[in-house]
Amino acid sequence: MLTKLFQRALFVAITCSAAATWAADKLPHVVILATGGTIAGTGATSTTTVGYTAAKVGVEKLIEAVPELKQVANVSGEQVFQIASENMTNENWLTLAKRVNALLKQSDVDGIVITHGTDTIEETAYFLNLTVKSKKPVVIVGSMRPSTAISADGPINLYNAVAVAGSPDSVNRGVLVAMNDEILGARDVTKTNTMLANTFRSPELGDLGYIVSGKPQYYRATTKKHTADTEFDVSRLEHLPAVDIAYGSANANTLAIDAFVAAGDVGIVYAGTGDGSLATPVRARLTELRQQGVFILRSSRVGNGPTLRNGENDDDKTDFVVSDTLNPQKARILLMLALTKTKDTKEIQRMFYTY
Ligand code: DGL
Repeated sequence: MLTKLFQRALFVAITCSAAATWAADKLPHVVILATGGTIAGTGATSTTTVGYTAAKVGVEKLIEAVPELKQVANVSGEQVFQIASENMTNENWLTLAKRVNALLKQSDVDGIVITHGTDTIEETAYFLNLTVKSKKPVVIVGSMRPSTAISADGPINLYNAVAVAGSPDSVNRGVLVAMNDEILGARDVTKTNTMLANTFRSPELGDLGYIVSGKPQYYRATTKKHTADTEFDVSRLEHLPAVDIAYGSANANTLAIDAFVAAGDVGIVYAGTGDGSLATPVRARLTELRQQGVFILRSSRVGNGPTLRNGENDDDKTDFVVSDTLNPQKARILLMLALTKTKDTKEIQRMFYTY
């Protein structure tokens, strides 16, 4: 009798173990690339939500803190950097893009999650949107509260990001930002609040979808080219062309512009007032610099709406390029990549209407 019971128990145990192995084998393989930020941050107390230290907790600890990840994916982790994202550099982006492309070429990798500081998430997301050569999901995630805080948002954000990256519904949607149960597209997402958990918005153009109990639900798709359809290739690049942003305001002057050019910049993004308006001395100096071969990109500090060609400036005459709806920090990224391909301003303008 006992033998029979034991045999049955053994049979059930083996069957369950085989089923568990089979189920795990069916889960997507998601690689988590950690770069630092608040999601890896620690504060002095559980109520410290500002004044904490970012980029302290390693990727293995981030994964250990969310055992539920095993329900949605087989995850592996790599610590690519450990920095607060205000310190992200062009060279960091090139390293990250090359690692992402190498991993996504592997048939056993189904998606990638990048943990990142929120300050420059939107820039890293857009850079990868233009340089990842795959349709597989790449999802960037951060948090607004450190891992040590009551109701830290990092664990649920990480769980959601892995679920999004492992979902077939997320394929070929471009690089995504998954924060606060929302899914936002790399091109339009921006940080809109210095401290709130719902800081990431795509103002006016909207989210792409939501995450409901660990499942992505999509409602929109971008109309712009990205990832597998990109014409940019960074595989052989070690540096990007020097492009900086000058900010427009009342009492505008050309001090910052002159300093950028003196430092060797080949392109200037001007975050103009309104529809990319240029104060008279600024317009004169930028026009002069264009004639000397510096590329000028007219953008706006406003945050919503397109900067329109030949609106506040005769761009055909001055040979400037306009950013369309890209904010200045994203326009800088596209201008740098455009200048790795062409010096033709008509071609560059096409790229700003394409990506
Ligand atoms: N130092 C900021 C960063 O790494 C903290 C903000 C955050 O990660 O939420 O972007």
